[in-house]
Amino acid sequence: MRDYSRFFEPGIIMYDLIVRGARLSGQSSLVDIGVADGRIAAIEAQLDGVAKECIEAQGDLTLPPFVESHIHLDSVLTAGDPRYNESGTLFEGIQVWTERKPFLTREDVIARASEAIRWQVANGILHVRTHVDICDPELTALRALLEVRESVAPAVNMQIVAFPQEGIPSYPGGAELLEEALRLGADAVGAIPHYEHTREAGVASLHTCFSLAQSYDRMIDVHCDEIDDEQSRFIEVVASLALQTGLHQRVTASHTTAMHSYNGAYTYKLFQLLQKARINFVANPLINITLQGRFDHYPVRRGVTRIKELWREGVNVSLGHDDILDPWYGLGTGSMVQVAHMAVHTSHMTGRAEIAETVRMITTRAARTLQIEETYGVEVGKPASFVIIPASDEFDLIRRQPMCRYVISHGQVVAHTNPARTTVTLGGRTEDVDFARE
Ligand code: FE2
Repeated sequence: MRDYSRFFEPGIIMYDLIVRGARLSGQSSLVDIGVADGRIAAIEAQLDGVAKECIEAQGDLTLPPFVESHIHLDSVLTAGDPRYNESGTLFEGIQVWTERKPFLTREDVIARASEAIRWQVANGILHVRTHVDICDPELTALRALLEVRESVAPAVNMQIVAFPQEGIPSYPGGAELLEEALRLGADAVGAIPHYEHTREAGVASLHTCFSLAQSYDRMIDVHCDEIDDEQSRFIEVVASLALQTGLHQRVTASHTTAMHSYNGAYTYKLFQLLQKARINFVANPLINITLQGRFDHYPVRRGVTRIKELWREGVNVSLGHDDILDPWYGLGTGSMVQVAHMAVHTSHMTGRAEIAETVRMITTRAARTLQIEETYGVEVGKPASFVIIPASDEFDLIRRQPMCRYVISHGQVVAHTNPARTTVTLGGRTEDVDFARE
């Protein structure tokens, strides 16, 4: 902490920023947070000291920043270009994207990704794991997103997953492009085994993925079993390889929607393996509630992975937005709170403790998925990165979904929203309405 004591009365500490009256998660009494040199220097009931800048939190919920653990920043904001996904299926989405890819340019990708990141920062997201399609001989999107990663750091911590959207053995030169993406600096290796031409090719793609991760010392994040086929069981291969290689928490399985349809006996066996493998799961409820079930007659499956069951079994689960205005999802503003709200509904996580847990799935649990726990959290000594939201607790946050009043990254205010004010006039009386209830 910087010592300004020589400029002031002895004993008075000067901070760069003091946040007064912050409500930390699960705590009834308010605290002050002192920030110096981009780090949290003190958290006390009443902080002595002065600061260049002071923020009155007014009892607002103060959380570590939201973590987006699964997004595709290369395809964001392309919905309708060259055409809309009319069937709403994953497969038409991939087809539309394949038609759009030849028109990708460095400037196009940088402009759209940068706009989406501004939306994310406004929504309190300061850690982003993005997948980028590397099934492109020029690797145009990957090169562009590497530039974006550089330009937004250190305010936004971005991880890039080299994602073979059209397969590894099933796409000409797929393995070579994947390796080149790692050489260029991607943080994690991806795969899409359920999309490979055969089951054998799917298994082979996972061996390639794990082998590259070991050679280049990178994390793994697999698009795994994103299909309603109950026979799609690549998750057992991912978990088994994580166990064999010892990569454990450095491995993430995304989507796993086929798990929705697994029978009880197989699920029991699988969960025994998951306990040993200690991998992470990312569910994308906004997207999969719309993409899945498209080939069903009634009753139509929800197709979202078993978020609640995985969490109850002690498996680390986080949530991702996946897509914003692109061929797979034509809606969205990049809000993780909206994602958690959908998880509450699709996973029957409506109990008070369960709703609070969905907030951990977009904060602390997501930080574990990204392997950033050491520098994440509202704690003395950690980077001064947090959000101040006009909500009384996690339940209130999910119910009303207010915007963050302040988003602070390494001690700097990077986004500020003045809460909307609504008045209602009835019976001659005008009153403020903010939907809050004690
Ligand atoms: Fe995805």
